[in-house]
Amino acid sequence: MKADIGLIGLAVMGQNLVMNMNDHGYRVAVYNRTTSKVNDFLTGNALNSLVIGTHSLEELVGSLSKPRKIMLMVKAGEVVDAMINQLIPLLEPGDILIDGGNSLFTDTSRRTDALGAKGVLYIGCGVSGGEEGARNGPSIMPGGNKQAWPAIKGIFQDISAKVDEQPCCQWVGEQGAGHYVKMIHNGIEYGDMQLICEAYQVMRKGLGMTCDEIHVVFEEWNKGVLDSYLVEITSHILTFKDDDGEPLLDKILDQAGQKGTGKWTGINALDLGIPLTLIAESVFARCLSSRKDERVLASDKLATTLPTWQGDKQQVIQDLHDALYASKIISYTQGFMLMREAANEYGWQLDFGNIALMWRGGCIIRSRFLADIKQAYDHDNNLVNLLMDNFFADALMKADAGWRHTIQLAVQLCIPIPTFSAGLSFYDGYRSAQLPANLLQAQRDYFGAHTYERVDRPRGEYFHTDWISSGGKVSSTIYDV
Ligand code: 6PG
Repeated sequence: MKADIGLIGLAVMGQNLVMNMNDHGYRVAVYNRTTSKVNDFLTGNALNSLVIGTHSLEELVGSLSKPRKIMLMVKAGEVVDAMINQLIPLLEPGDILIDGGNSLFTDTSRRTDALGAKGVLYIGCGVSGGEEGARNGPSIMPGGNKQAWPAIKGIFQDISAKVDEQPCCQWVGEQGAGHYVKMIHNGIEYGDMQLICEAYQVMRKGLGMTCDEIHVVFEEWNKGVLDSYLVEITSHILTFKDDDGEPLLDKILDQAGQKGTGKWTGINALDLGIPLTLIAESVFARCLSSRKDERVLASDKLATTLPTWQGDKQQVIQDLHDALYASKIISYTQGFMLMREAANEYGWQLDFGNIALMWRGGCIIRSRFLADIKQAYDHDNNLVNLLMDNFFADALMKADAGWRHTIQLAVQLCIPIPTFSAGLSFYDGYRSAQLPANLLQAQRDYFGAHTYERVDRPRGEYFHTDWISSGGKVSSTIYDV
């Protein structure tokens, strides 16, 4: 009997996806470049399953029912291109190739177009949820050649997470849209993680709380509007003890790694001119953390006497809760703004309510909060951004005072809070009818004759002033990036 789908790449995500498909009654054929891994899998995790092991790409392709569906779970980048090149001669028009790794969306757009020209249907598919999600129900974000969607929809929706019986897997859009949305998911993941870290640091260093005390706070927060997987695991991490009974967290080196998806999100925001300040700060916070040796030297050379904090702890914790919630709203606002711009720029039809639904369960940023975002976009898919939705506008108004108090306190205590403050500055900037860009335009015109528009004249009329009476009346050309 032929297999329903093939999967290449038996690292932990690949193995778990195979077993998830197997549990749902699908027959999966597997292949791995180091073929001993296939045997290990068959005698290990896949023992007594329907899984078919193959030891060459020819054998894999030959074992599949038509149209063939092959999912790649290999390292993003050149490995994906190399694997595609090896598979192409073995495939027929109508066959479907799916990349389930964290590929750069522009690579996926290129591959979708190139393979489409050969009649092979390419899908770039974001998969989130880590090992546990892959095994029990991930969030799956497929995009690419839509002709392939009916053939893979059943399998993917069956294995995905469900929220209120709805699968966290919906068609995202053309070309690299699936991987794009996964990239934004990861950018938001960076923002959420950094925000939580800042809240932790205010409690740990500012208020001098123990890990166990902070654990209780996060546990409590996880029962309300902040209810999310990342808050839940943070609460667990805080209570986890090392062999000597001390918190393991205190022994972990404060130097963050990154594989690049947050950086890609920031680069794309700069390319599209979207002020994605909070996520960008969360990437930079990781960069700063990784300069550990320099920081240790600087902590001596630039040492200061830190004030000790005294006050109403419960009030500070309540303010911190509000700061975290408000900043989170800003982070998602910016992330969805970027996706909206990308949809325009790349010509994709993105359904933002569906995207929120896909992130509602299974993935790393899953949370109760995403149900509110889904509701906002279900109400109006053309919403300019979340701040224009009454629910979120109201939530920000209520959190405003606590947010500001938290930032004031952190500044006084010399605790860095780059994402809390980037969020607040964005909020204040976005709702300012008047920004100091009038001065900025004057400066540009002063030194470079870049011209400016006037508030007392119609838009589109450009002026240049000879600021130092040097006779220079020639303006430079007008263009904006
Ligand atoms: C997910 C995660 C996953 C992975 C990140 C980690 O959605 O399941 O986002 O994709 O954990 O790539 O990224 P960093 O190593 O950059 O933190």
